[in-house]
Amino acid sequence: MNLAVFVSGRGSNLQAILNSAELKDIIDVKVVVSSRQDCKAFEIAKQFSIPTMTLGEKEGHISYSSLSNFLSELKIDLVVLAGFLKLIPVDVIKNFKNRIINIHPALLPSFGGKGMYGMNVHQAVFDSSAKVSGPSVHFVDETFDTGKIIAQKCIDISDVKSPEEIAKRVLVEEHKILPYVIKKFAEGKIRIFNGRVEII
Ligand code: GRF
Repeated sequence: MNLAVFVSGRGSNLQAILNSAELKDIIDVKVVVSSRQDCKAFEIAKQFSIPTMTLGEKEGHISYSSLSNFLSELKIDLVVLAGFLKLIPVDVIKNFKNRIINIHPALLPSFGGKGMYGMNVHQAVFDSSAKVSGPSVHFVDETFDTGKIIAQKCIDISDVKSPEEIAKRVLVEEHKILPYVIKKFAEGKIRIFNGRVEII
């Protein structure tokens, strides 16, 4: 299965995908795409000899309007947003319907939406005094964090003393759940039935 992984920063989820023993023989990461040229995740891609591409209107970048063609030419089966901060253009969403997934570091549909990224999410969870949090993997639609949820992992955070502690605990689970969902997708074990996403 051909993957394109979209990143904006650190790239620990990209690393988890590339290090996954279970995914090793079933996925081929064709390209790592970022909205920022200087992101750490590009260094990880380079270590694995994976081509990188920056999105934008400058020369040598892929423009947002040519993104859909670019992904089609690479025969991408699944687009994985792993810390990607920009909205995916509507034509890409249409052309890759139910083939774009995102990982969010909280239990959607709470604590999502515009501006809810990075530590903002964990700060909001901390301030709410919620007792549970955890990653959500969902299909991507036209707006931030609103697509149907594929998988979630609920973890106890009743004893945490800081948002950083929540982030740390959630990240451990992110690195497990994202490769898990990608594997299920590759195996054709994710389906939508009665409007709900099921993993079979
Ligand atoms: C993760 O917490 C992910 O859930 C969110 O952005 C962060 C990316 O981290 N969407 P990394 O770049 O994968 O380390």
